[in-house]
Amino acid sequence: MHWKGQTPQWRSVQPFGRAGEVKTALILSSTPEPKSFVAGMAATSQRVLAEEGYEVIHSDLNAVGWNPVASASDFPERNNDDYLVYALEQRAGVAKGTISPDILIELEKLMKCDLLVLNFPIYWFSVPAILKGWFDRVLVSGTCYGGTRFYDRGGLRGKRALVAATIGGQPHMFGRDAIHGPISEMLSPLLRGTLAYTGMDVLEPFMAWHVPYISQKAREKIMIQYAQCLRDINTRDCLKLPSLEAFDKALYPLPRA
Ligand SMILES: Cc1cc2nc3c(=O)[nH]c(=O)nc-3n(C[C@H](O)[C@H](O)[C@H](O)COP(=O)(O)O)c2cc1C
Repeated sequence: MHWKGQTPQWRSVQPFGRAGEVKTALILSSTPEPKSFVAGMAATSQRVLAEEGYEVIHSDLNAVGWNPVASASDFPERNNDDYLVYALEQRAGVAKGTISPDILIELEKLMKCDLLVLNFPIYWFSVPAILKGWFDRVLVSGTCYGGTRFYDRGGLRGKRALVAATIGGQPHMFGRDAIHGPISEMLSPLLRGTLAYTGMDVLEPFMAWHVPYISQKAREKIMIQYAQCLRDINTRDCLKLPSLEAFDKALYPLPRA
């Protein structure tokens, strides 16, 4: 299915990186079943991106038992012991290197990558809680965003993100007049509110539709399409968003020239 028919909000991007430069891909995957389609997609991400010349890093959140809960225990040394302002403690904890080591390790992988690939099953129009908890804890204030450092001024500018997810629903259920509305609206908190907000170029998502209910042959066909999507990643369109240049200091829109 073609995304452009659903919403008019995609633009093309230039191939990134200089010729001969080795790029790094971080694959962030989440599935409670190691033999699931999502696990197969993560394996395809690893294989194809390595073939395409990327240095590949894989964080398999369920396999490592990632802790998704943002809490005071993320800060063994507190800036303010009386009252926890999570974002301020993130800033201080990263600056001093005292934030929980599991966060620091993931943050280092994130800052190193040029391309972030997310493989997960859609849960409740969104991401599984374990992946949401990765965003909450790893996309730290100060480094990834802060003040008016978002969208085209975000801390993760220059990186690209691809959402490649499995979903129970079928293509005809999503779209402007479809029962669930456009999928880009369903995924807006992820595509816009998280990935684009922190400055990344957000590529058109790849959806593996209806995978629990289709034949083995149909599943294999989707996996081949996914491999091709990864090979074509340099020419995949990305989400069109406003520039902060078009807004004043209080974020009111400036009059159009
Ligand atoms: C907790 C939970 C929530 C789900 N929410 C949705 C949903 O909002 N929309 C949808 O189409 N499918 C939903 N599903 C179906 C999953 O997306 C589907 O089973 C999954 O993508 C299959 O991938 P897998 O075979 O790799 O596990 C949900 C499944 C679970 C377990």
